[in-house]
Amino acid sequence: MSKRFYLTTAIDYVNGEPHLGHAYEKIIADVIVRARRSLGEETFFLTGLDEHGQKVEQAAVAEGKSPQAYCDDLADIWKGFVGKLGVSNDDFVRTTQPRHKEVVQAILSKLHAEGHFYKRLYEGFYSTREETFLTEKDRRPDGSFDPSYGEVTRLKEENYYFKLGDQQQWLIDHIERNPSFVQPDHRRNEVLGFLKHNVLEDLCITRPVARLNWGIPFPIDTNYVTYVWFDALVNYISVPAAHGDPGILSALGYQPSSINHPLSLWPADIHVIGKDIIKFHAVYWPIMLKAMGLPLPKQVLAHGWWQRDGEKMSKSTGNVVDPIAVIKEWGVDAFRFYVVRELDIASDGNWTDEGFRHRYNSELADGLGNLLNRSLSMLRRYRNGLVPPVSNVLAADAERVVAETRDLLQGNRLQAALMTIWSLVSRANQYVEQTAPFKLAKDPAKAAQLDEALYNLAEVCRVLAVLLWPFLPETAARIYGQLGLTGAPDKFSEARWGGLAAGHAIGTPVALFPKKET
Ligand code: MSP
Repeated sequence: MSKRFYLTTAIDYVNGEPHLGHAYEKIIADVIVRARRSLGEETFFLTGLDEHGQKVEQAAVAEGKSPQAYCDDLADIWKGFVGKLGVSNDDFVRTTQPRHKEVVQAILSKLHAEGHFYKRLYEGFYSTREETFLTEKDRRPDGSFDPSYGEVTRLKEENYYFKLGDQQQWLIDHIERNPSFVQPDHRRNEVLGFLKHNVLEDLCITRPVARLNWGIPFPIDTNYVTYVWFDALVNYISVPAAHGDPGILSALGYQPSSINHPLSLWPADIHVIGKDIIKFHAVYWPIMLKAMGLPLPKQVLAHGWWQRDGEKMSKSTGNVVDPIAVIKEWGVDAFRFYVVRELDIASDGNWTDEGFRHRYNSELADGLGNLLNRSLSMLRRYRNGLVPPVSNVLAADAERVVAETRDLLQGNRLQAALMTIWSLVSRANQYVEQTAPFKLAKDPAKAAQLDEALYNLAEVCRVLAVLLWPFLPETAARIYGQLGLTGAPDKFSEARWGGLAAGHAIGTPVALFPKKET
């Protein structure tokens, strides 16, 4: 059994409707995993929902539903959402599933037996919105707490704690020795700065049932439920455990009830997350894994946050971008294209409707769409849709772009990869202007030149379909279909120049991205 390339996203809180931020994370994860698949790796892609905790409980109460009924209703919406984004996940975890809860409890029992936990009284501040304890250090110079914490109350309660005291130095060493463990670099520096300038406080891993009921029962003491973050992070290994990952099962001494085809997944190759939850993934999660005797993930990749028109998106302002509405109007690939092309993973982004329309019209409709449409229309008109003999005028341009795209995909530089691919789109559109096949067609003496131009244009479109597949899977398949090719353009090796054979009959050209008046 060979280990698969294993990629995860954060699991979303199920206390509202999905928005642009959630969609963005899933799309970049999907592009990364499709690229690996195209490059020949076996992959496993996990996403899902974080269903426990106070926020979810409160949202359920506000709707007059039990937390489980509330989660079940919303889970259908979220699963449908993932499907509409064209995301190719292999599994969808819900933290209320028995397969997940059992693993969380097994881990808690094991870590408790090994002496990692202790119980103590806490007296201090608590933010319900963030479900977190606050200290004097969290106060701002004027004594108040950041509004992002919501209402902060005083609290006195006994809880179980996970000892973090001796863990700081090895983690600093690990992050320093493995520069790719936390990416991008500025986030890595942020984590190192935090670890070097603060003493890690032990992590409170329970909440009393008397205050919060909606959580995984703490197996050591029935008066408590498990802290939602301890529960949620474990999804990254509970799903592999349910699929029979041998390393996880032996480390935890756990055996799930039925496994048909065991998969080897752990360690994760990439956890794709937003910048706001980096501390949980780059500090607490590695410490939890080390305590369990499991290897650390190879990479935590933190993306930036989206705003709209320069402002934070929020329901109250009414400025939330609804991905489904955009997809209905413009198509899923137009949405995928915009969010990946607009910003580098490392940076924050700003959605504007105008910017979206501009990229749609100039890069998709006038750029890629126009190239395919005129290339195929001319091939039909002048050569009855039959591909002329192989010609290599654009081969070197294509080969350069193929090589650059491969490197960029391997480094998860998605925006840069799209820019490189579009340099080939522009080169080919420029080639149409230079060769002017519509003029060559008028002169029978220039038949060989016309053949050459038509071959190069059709072949560039074929190569583009293969390069674009991870980003725009639907469009790539449509390009293949219009070229009269069967199967999906999902193997990077097919991007080699010269794939279209002389005499091959292409299909009917249909506009990929109809131009819209704005
Ligand atoms: N449930 C936790 C994650 C647990 S992972 C073990 C959580 N959920 S969330 O629903 O609040 O956020 C889910 C993901 O969406 C996070 O990675 C977060 O950074 C991302 N985004 C939420 N809003 C966003 C933007 N406005 N822009 C980009 N991503 C954003 O945190």
